[in-house]
Amino acid sequence: MSQAGQHPQSDPTKEDSDQAYVGRPMDRVDGRLKVTGAARYAAEFDAPNLAHATPIQSSIARGRVASIDVGIAKASPGVIAIITFEDVSRMPLPTVPPAGTAVPLLSPLIVYSGQNLALVVAETLEQAQHAATLVEIAYTPEAPDVVMEQFLNRGFVPNTGIRPGRSQRGDIGAGLEASAIKIAETYRTPVEHHNPLEPHATVAFWKGDRLTVYDATQGVGNTAQNLAELFQISVENVHVIDPFVGGGFGCKGQSWPHTPLAALAARIAKRPVRLALTRRQMFTSVGHRPCTRQENTIAANRAGRLVAIKHRVYSHTSTTDEFMEPTGAPVSMLYTCPNVEIEHRLVRLNVGAPTYMRAPGEASGSFGLETAMDEVAVALGMDPIDLRLRNYAELDQTNGHDWSSKSLRECYEGAAEQFGWSRRDPRPRSMRDGRWLVGWGMATAGYPANFRPASAKARIHQDGSVWIGCGTQDLGTGTYTILAQIAADALGVSPSNVRVQIGDNRLPSAPTSGGSCSATSTGSAVLLAAKALRTRLLSYVNADETSPFFNLQASAMRVRNGQITSQRVEGASVTYAEVLRRYGKSVVEQEAFAEAGVERGTPPGGQGPGDAQPRKEKTKAYSMHGFGAQFCEVRIDADLGVVRVSRWVGAFALGKQLNPKTLRSQLKGGVVWGIGMALHEASMLDARFGRYVNSNLAEYHLPVNADIPEIEILLIDEEDTLVSPLGAKGAGEIGITGAAAAISNAVYHATGTRIRDLPITLDKLLARGQASTA
Ligand code: MOS
Repeated sequence: MSQAGQHPQSDPTKEDSDQAYVGRPMDRVDGRLKVTGAARYAAEFDAPNLAHATPIQSSIARGRVASIDVGIAKASPGVIAIITFEDVSRMPLPTVPPAGTAVPLLSPLIVYSGQNLALVVAETLEQAQHAATLVEIAYTPEAPDVVMEQFLNRGFVPNTGIRPGRSQRGDIGAGLEASAIKIAETYRTPVEHHNPLEPHATVAFWKGDRLTVYDATQGVGNTAQNLAELFQISVENVHVIDPFVGGGFGCKGQSWPHTPLAALAARIAKRPVRLALTRRQMFTSVGHRPCTRQENTIAANRAGRLVAIKHRVYSHTSTTDEFMEPTGAPVSMLYTCPNVEIEHRLVRLNVGAPTYMRAPGEASGSFGLETAMDEVAVALGMDPIDLRLRNYAELDQTNGHDWSSKSLRECYEGAAEQFGWSRRDPRPRSMRDGRWLVGWGMATAGYPANFRPASAKARIHQDGSVWIGCGTQDLGTGTYTILAQIAADALGVSPSNVRVQIGDNRLPSAPTSGGSCSATSTGSAVLLAAKALRTRLLSYVNADETSPFFNLQASAMRVRNGQITSQRVEGASVTYAEVLRRYGKSVVEQEAFAEAGVERGTPPGGQGPGDAQPRKEKTKAYSMHGFGAQFCEVRIDADLGVVRVSRWVGAFALGKQLNPKTLRSQLKGGVVWGIGMALHEASMLDARFGRYVNSNLAEYHLPVNADIPEIEILLIDEEDTLVSPLGAKGAGEIGITGAAAAISNAVYHATGTRIRDLPITLDKLLARGQASTA
């Protein structure tokens, strides 16, 4: 195990290491471009004669457009076109979900506040925005349904998603009967919005029936596919470019209405169009994490063995889609338990479509489950780590499969030791520092180790420079950097000699960057492509009678800094550049396709948005997950109920560390998200109008630097070549899982008060009367 702050790394100068760069905490290769402003994001792309578009969004949440009068607006200075649903009602429906939400301006029927009704295109953004205020829309409003708790009886179990809504094992009734203790409580999480720093934006233009878009997206390939279907053109005629993404977190994981709207506007205006969403529109137009009401019953025997878990969850969805927040995923697999019943129910409301948000399912679900587990530990008088160890899942009970790897025990041990857990007095309100009540809490973290097939191309030029092309994207996570490291090691060159090109759907196809799958999937494709290129280059020199390396196996040759040598041939060396010149090649390239090495068990209630294809041949199946343990300390003002997080230790086992620096950043970012989820974030819907009333970053509370303590991340050594040829597991989502529960558990330990609905704000603590001095 490596301790926080000590970066495990191979020495890059160590000539005999085959892993000179992978595993090193290398700085981001795109860091300079970003800090100098040279990295261009979607909204920054220009085009000659660029026009600007702004959407007009419904101000009511339910009803109809009675009339829409664009007369005055059309005459406003600079206006080029005003597009309404009448112009697009003949557009074909997409087959890519969520049907209805991806289709802009579909009809005069209004089903949520913020629904796009029209689009104004003008010479300047200001002219478009001004003209938009002149469009007169008369509504026939109806009272919207927006408060989920009022409509629970409408809840239905979805069966259209990638995961089943209902699953069970054993006999829940018998299990509950046999138990010694039982916790039956309801846990709630609010609507949250992703709010990446870079708002969504699209710049679109047409040449004949060829469409080019610069789009803020987590999936250039998926976006191209959606546009091709909507406009009924061949996907070869759609070019999607997105070299830099300013954060995604799931809201850029699918296409939303503004992207085809921008393309439509460009077609109608016959010139390039830019459509950039405002921060406020980010709250209405690109999804959110749905609210959840999790009814958990957990039963255990005196020895602390779980005998039954029942999880019924309600989450809201829109009138046009069936997005299910899979909170049951961690419930089904985190612990050994013979009797488990999970049921997801959706409640249709007049809200925009919800979507995946960093650790979809696991973030919300682990709050309910891991808080309930803490309550079980309290009821049993047992240490919460002991309870978890007593129910440690040695295999995935949802399908009986072995884990491809699981180092959760080491995570508990490492984090507990680093945190000093053994010094914890388990009695609530027992630890105090002046006016501050001090509490320590912990929770388990987990997220599927997803993999999706990906391809990549590796190319070398006569000057020895290497180019890697892959149709993936960097959400700010470090994709450029790790791909350069992987290619450098595989080829035997320096990363500074490798140029990585991504964010373009014309490059070899790669999956949408979601479900924490990019490092493993595209990283493996780059590894295979670069290895194939190395093999091909070496084959020139060992097939050539005049070469000093004639007849040598590739394994007997070594390449460092682009220079081929062999211990068998003292003193001989030849560079890649010389190889290309000598054999008359201006460029040599190899493309490779990486697919899952083994079959994965897809458990009921199972995996994330990155479900892999099972392999055709019959092999042993494994369950694949990353695991971790979150430990934190909170300090709560005894009179005011103010909660501060004062310490954090998270230990994670995520296969091989490709770049400990970007890996730690990902995990810290996830923990920061968890702190926001536990204490700050909530999108407030006005029950009368169905509008988000805090749709800005002043009133939607996010943690700031002052809210975040030093976050210590322990990385547990692990390697998992069953997940991917690289040996790594993804790290994008797991950092938030368990984090909110660790905080709620620490709040209970500090105060003796259990808050089961997020965020844990001081008004809730004061209302429960806990904060009075004991
Ligand atoms: Mo992630 S929420 O699958 O982009």
